[in-house]
Amino acid sequence: MWQRAAWMLLCAVGAGSAQLLFNATDVVKKTDCNKTVILPCCVTNLNQNNIGIMFVKWKRQGQLIFSFDGRTRKYFRHPSMPSAVLLSEKDLTKGVASLELKNAEAEVGNYSCEVTESNREGETRFELKKYAVDSCGEESTPPTPEEKCGSWFLLLERALIISLLFIIIILWLVQLSLIAFKYEIETRKKMGIIIAGVFATGAAIVGTVLFVQDGYTVHHQAGLGLIVVPAMVFIPLQYFMFGIVFDNLPQATFVLVGLQTLGYVIAVAGFVLCVPVCPPIHASVIIAGLAILAIAYLLSLSYVFIMGSRMKDHPRPGKAVEEPLNELRSSVIREKYTVVDTPWP
Ligand SMILES: *[C@@H]1O[C@H](CO)[C@@H](O)[C@H](O)[C@H]1NC(C)=O
Ligand SMILES: *[C@@H]1O[C@H](CO)[C@@H](O)[C@H](O)[C@H]1NC(C)=O
Repeated sequence: MWQRAAWMLLCAVGAGSAQLLFNATDVVKKTDCNKTVILPCCVTNLNQNNIGIMFVKWKRQGQLIFSFDGRTRKYFRHPSMPSAVLLSEKDLTKGVASLELKNAEAEVGNYSCEVTESNREGETRFELKKYAVDSCGEESTPPTPEEKCGSWFLLLERALIISLLFIIIILWLVQLSLIAFKYEIETRKKMGIIIAGVFATGAAIVGTVLFVQDGYTVHHQAGLGLIVVPAMVFIPLQYFMFGIVFDNLPQATFVLVGLQTLGYVIAVAGFVLCVPVCPPIHASVIIAGLAILAIAYLLSLSYVFIMGSRMKDHPRPGKAVEEPLNELRSSVIREKYTVVDTPWP
């Protein structure tokens, strides 16, 4: 809001002259964080202040993109910029011919704004440039190449978030395979686990596709949501998987599930803090939460692995009577374990 107000103030009414004069700038900056952009055009010496005799024309790279006829109050908009409107039609008589439109529709390039007041007219030009988000507000930073700039999250932050998510999914899959291989799981339970896992993984993939690109739109916000929120599914699944391995859950398993919950809560808190803010100053909170979650998963996997192999010669009660086939299978596992176990005492 303050930004709009600031633009209105710029167009102070000055003395008369044959030519319309502008409060001009050579370069207008935008970043991915601007949801809408304001293309400034401020006439400083209107003297009739009558909308009925005014005409506004906006061009991009010489092509007409927008016009407003004060007499008929009719607009023309180029099909590629349906959201374009005068910043304030009411203030046009005070010289405000600025254009407001969605960021995505405001391509970088050279713009010109032509204003006519009866028989007086004038034109101002500027270049709209895109800047990296992390150089926001720093006047001295040179412009980065227009095409590949920073975004809502920095490339490194996005890479970390997405990698951590897939590490969590992989750790979970490894743990599930380990358990499924060694212990009998009822078909119904197995289906339940698989469906929940597929759901969370599917959400993660869709989220990654939406989030991985540069930008700050509803798509990007939804993508981050799909990455962070469904990760919750893995916590009850972990609890459930411990239940398959242990008849009486050892205290350590509660600590591990507690650690996962903590990581998840931190990640969601980070998500809530980041969604409305661009550039996000709390990206590290999401990363920390996901990292805790990943560590908790790694510890859970190690725990299942170690305890599971320790229990190999002492089958859990109720599992003693097994078919010869299972016996055979577990002896195969045992061999596997002895090989993998060697580095540890
Ligand atoms: C983009 O947002 C920044 C910060 O709010 C603002 O200063 C700048 O004028 C905006 N750019 C445009 C073209 O609206
Ligand atoms: C805009 O105009 C300036 C100066 O005439 C030129 O250097 C620049 O390359 C132009 N930008 C685009 C995107 O055409």
